[in-house]
Amino acid sequence: MKTPVRVTVTGAAGQISYSLLFRIAAGEMLGKDQPVILQMLEITPALEALKGVAMELDDCAFPLLAGMVCTDDPNVAFKDTDYALLVGARPRGPGMERKDLLEANAAIFSVQGKAINDHASRDIKVLVVGNPANTNALIAQRNAPDIDPRQFTAMTRLDHNRAQTQLAQKTGKTINDVTKMLIWGNHSSTQYPDLHNTLVDGKSAMDLIDQAWYENDFIPVVQQRGAAIIKARGASSAASAANAAIFHMRDWALGTPEGDWVSMGVYSDGSYGIEKGLIYSFPCVCKGGDWEIVQGLEINEFSRGKMTATEKELQEERDAVKALLPA
Ligand code: NAI
Repeated sequence: MKTPVRVTVTGAAGQISYSLLFRIAAGEMLGKDQPVILQMLEITPALEALKGVAMELDDCAFPLLAGMVCTDDPNVAFKDTDYALLVGARPRGPGMERKDLLEANAAIFSVQGKAINDHASRDIKVLVVGNPANTNALIAQRNAPDIDPRQFTAMTRLDHNRAQTQLAQKTGKTINDVTKMLIWGNHSSTQYPDLHNTLVDGKSAMDLIDQAWYENDFIPVVQQRGAAIIKARGASSAASAANAAIFHMRDWALGTPEGDWVSMGVYSDGSYGIEKGLIYSFPCVCKGGDWEIVQGLEINEFSRGKMTATEKELQEERDAVKALLPA
């Protein structure tokens, strides 16, 4: 058996974590031979609920669960941690403007970024799930100057998975036939699900669908899927979000399948003309515990317009919290 690794999950008593923690402990994220120590962070009023979650984790008798820490102190939660899934965030309250929401989250993610900087493993892999995920990731990253910015990522995998399913259903194929799906930009309604490089059973997706379905159905359905689930379920997507977090970390740690890529919100190096330093979703290939942006994809005028619109939104989000970002 391998030496246990430490996995921090924030918002550990919330909806997403109620699905996520059990799957991590079952070995679905890092492999069935990798023991884990779960370091769970919550706000003080939720510690009692977190205790209940820990009791259930105990009662699952997971062979890979090598230990648990429950805390309301970020410095404890991030101590020596190898993987961090930042799920806990401040939801939008009544009358709260977008700027208020950004600032409330900036406060949370700057504290957590500092705690990661001061206490986590130098090789930590960070995934931000809590919204606004890309900008929260940027804030955490900017508050952790001693950690390589490439180690901070944001989740667009749920959007990627949603897009794969929509296309498989439209073309009468299965999810296994759909490769090279791609979400560009922000995890928000400006995200751009791009099918120009996507393959279905080896054939170009754009040859199998018409432009009207692409523009008027596919793109808005993927962009608005979160809202549609809230409307149907009366609660936000939690199990599918947890699943996407597992897939994101699993592929980052263990590698993406040969001949395919995944969508990840990562630190922009200026690829495809996207402003350097933004956390923007790109096509990524993962190998040896590292990711790289797939280069050389052709961008047509339609795609460029949508990629720029979502980039602009990320610039505006960053500018709204500028005062809270260290230089
Ligand atoms: P939830 O409200 O059920 O759980 C959030 C938990 O975070 C709560 O238990 C709360 O006490 C905790 N929390 C709040 N502030 C905290 C802090 N400073 N430190 C530690 N814990 C803290 O929400 P749910 O459904 O689990 O969603 C969590 C986040 O994930 C939300 O921001 C949601 O918008 C986002 N989300 C992101 C998706 C993505 O694709 N990137 C998809 C679905 C949800």
